[in-house]
Amino acid sequence: MGRSRFARATDAGIGRIEAASSLDGPGYAVETAMARPAQIAGSPAEGVANALHGTGYGHPVHPMLVTIPLGTWTLAFALDLLATLGIRRRGTERTAELALKVGSAGAVAAAATGLADWQHTNGRDRRVGMAHALVNSTALALNLASIALRGQGRLREGRLASAAGWACMFVGGYLGGHMVYRRRIGVDQADRSLEPRDFRPVLPVAELEENRPRRVEIWDEDQRQGVGIVLVRHKGRVHAMGARCSHRGGPLDQGWVLNGALVCPWHGSGYDLETGWPVSGPSTCPQPRYEVRLRAGMVEIRREQEPGEDVVTAAGLAQAPSDSQPDARRDGRRGTSPGRKADEVLFEHHQLIRRLFETIRDTPAHDPQRRDLLRVLASELEIHEHVEDHIFYPAVHPVSEDVPIAHSEHRQLSDLLAMTLKLNTASPEFDEHLRALHVAMDHHATSEERSMFQEAQRLGEDRLRELGRALEAMLEEQRTSRARRTFRDLKIRLLEGL
Ligand code: FES
Repeated sequence: MGRSRFARATDAGIGRIEAASSLDGPGYAVETAMARPAQIAGSPAEGVANALHGTGYGHPVHPMLVTIPLGTWTLAFALDLLATLGIRRRGTERTAELALKVGSAGAVAAAATGLADWQHTNGRDRRVGMAHALVNSTALALNLASIALRGQGRLREGRLASAAGWACMFVGGYLGGHMVYRRRIGVDQADRSLEPRDFRPVLPVAELEENRPRRVEIWDEDQRQGVGIVLVRHKGRVHAMGARCSHRGGPLDQGWVLNGALVCPWHGSGYDLETGWPVSGPSTCPQPRYEVRLRAGMVEIRREQEPGEDVVTAAGLAQAPSDSQPDARRDGRRGTSPGRKADEVLFEHHQLIRRLFETIRDTPAHDPQRRDLLRVLASELEIHEHVEDHIFYPAVHPVSEDVPIAHSEHRQLSDLLAMTLKLNTASPEFDEHLRALHVAMDHHATSEERSMFQEAQRLGEDRLRELGRALEAMLEEQRTSRARRTFRDLKIRLLEGL
């Protein structure tokens, strides 16, 4: 499916705004008019600017405030609509007017924070920002006019004005969304690589000069790219943080040290050397931090992991359950056959699914057996997902970082399978979808075999055999239990569209 007519029209409209360089003159005039008084006022103005950006809260303030006019103006619009349709309660008109007033106050506050953020944009982003401000100012003016008209008893005109303001608000919201989701204004732009997971030497300490930021680079194999880190020697200590500024990606290694903070050369955000937190805006987001230690004249760094990041480190591996740490499991296993390891059981199941794909592909298009084979494939994929999700992934999670992406791949497989099941097995679309499903499955299985299964070896042989037995038991149970088979068949029929 290509771009919709709506997407083409809006893209063309926004493209025109982005190309309107005639907006630059007025834009820079507004910025200068804002900057001069702030420069004269000094640090009090800096404090106000930081508060407007959200520096110190760790989040921009603007998106929080825009919810006030969005909610209240929508409430007023809904109440007006109900009243126009003859559905009204006592106090409806007063509530609508109050909502308009609260929304307008919120819009003024949102405009102040938006203006503070906007002044640090450039080029096409600045131009779209101006259009966004203009449209939202029109929405505010219409709502203020509506309040005045309602006050004069001209309810009909007042409702029309606020309805027009509500429509403007949507256009403004669209432009704001474009700035955030397409142009990445206000989102964290730092490199948040997980590397290096364990201490790694990066530079002889003798090469670091006091207060002179120095860039080093490490390789992130997962992202297939180098990651910049800036080192700063300050008052006898060495600090390290991400070299790409979280505000708009400026090069912090080309910045300077001021009052214990590393300042970005692009828009002047300062990051505390100790914590990486912004102490002056416009940035609101902390820099990635690295632990530093000195060994044999070398600076060694390790990524300071952030909450929620499931990272496998050498320290974590030392605590992971493995047969190097004897436990009750071994005693309980005595007398049972060792069986196959979990990765062997799963590899065999991968092979079975691969063969099923080949069989369906080689079955003539009009052979009714194709549908039966597809159902068998759907059933095996479902079973495979179930046993991995319930047994293998929870077990391997402490020693492999691949589990979250494997979950996402399962979702891809089930989405593709659902599409394929709905198609006529004799149609060319079916062949195309089956090929896509085959590629997705093969990618998933091969990734597991190359990476996750290797990492699973860290659990130790005893544990892998124990998991292998559990997997085989669950595979058997999934295939033989009548209730499970009935439930799976019903699900497949539903996906086929009955
Ligand atoms: S890029 Fe804007 S302050 Fe660094």
